[in-house]
Amino acid sequence: MEDLKQVAAKAALDYIKPGHTIGLGAGSTIAHLVNYLKAAETLFKSITTVTSSFNTQQLLQEHGFNTKQPGELSQLDIYFDGCDQFDHQLNALKSGGGIHTREKLLAAMADKFILIGDGSKYVTQLYTTFPVVIEVIPEAVPFVMKQLKKIFSLANPVIRLSNKKDGAVITENGNLLIDIWFRSFPPLDSLNHRLKEIPGILETSLFYNMAHAAIIAGKNGVEIIPK
Ligand code: 5RP
Repeated sequence: MEDLKQVAAKAALDYIKPGHTIGLGAGSTIAHLVNYLKAAETLFKSITTVTSSFNTQQLLQEHGFNTKQPGELSQLDIYFDGCDQFDHQLNALKSGGGIHTREKLLAAMADKFILIGDGSKYVTQLYTTFPVVIEVIPEAVPFVMKQLKKIFSLANPVIRLSNKKDGAVITENGNLLIDIWFRSFPPLDSLNHRLKEIPGILETSLFYNMAHAAIIAGKNGVEIIPK
């Protein structure tokens, strides 16, 4: 039986036209979309793909997609990505993968940024079961930590450590990740703005006011936002 992520991924096919340049993010929902695209022969042959994710890149190559690197492009027709959660205004948190800088770049390059996921990710208001993650240049870490504690006195910023217990996670860009755990989120526009004002922070995992649409699969079928 198809799971809900598969159902959402299949619905995303309707948006892709022959000749499109399509950006793809990370995660299992995107992997389903790659598999559906491979099966849609005419589309598969005519589209160009680009991805923010190493795992998705491997899948695209295994399937023989025409792929480009993000640095070879300045514009995409559509960027599809999953997320950890998104709210009714389509603000999204993408905290898990720590590749949000590249994901945000592709989302910003796209004429349309479409979130896809199952209904469990669609929430009235973003809640703090996930941190806001920031990518920080190494030299700026002590300063950024100090600023975060000053500006968000009730938040708990923690440098992300590797699962292999061999120190901090280093991003593909050679930077560090700080998970900021909030007890409750400040208003999202001010949170976004205040983080972006701190020198040394490259990007945050809060995708504020960026997505144009969302495809959500729930037990009653597929819902497209905005309707
Ligand atoms: C990575 C992400 C992923 O898109 C998110 O974790 C969704 O994954 P899945 O489709 O497996 O639920 O944000 O940064």
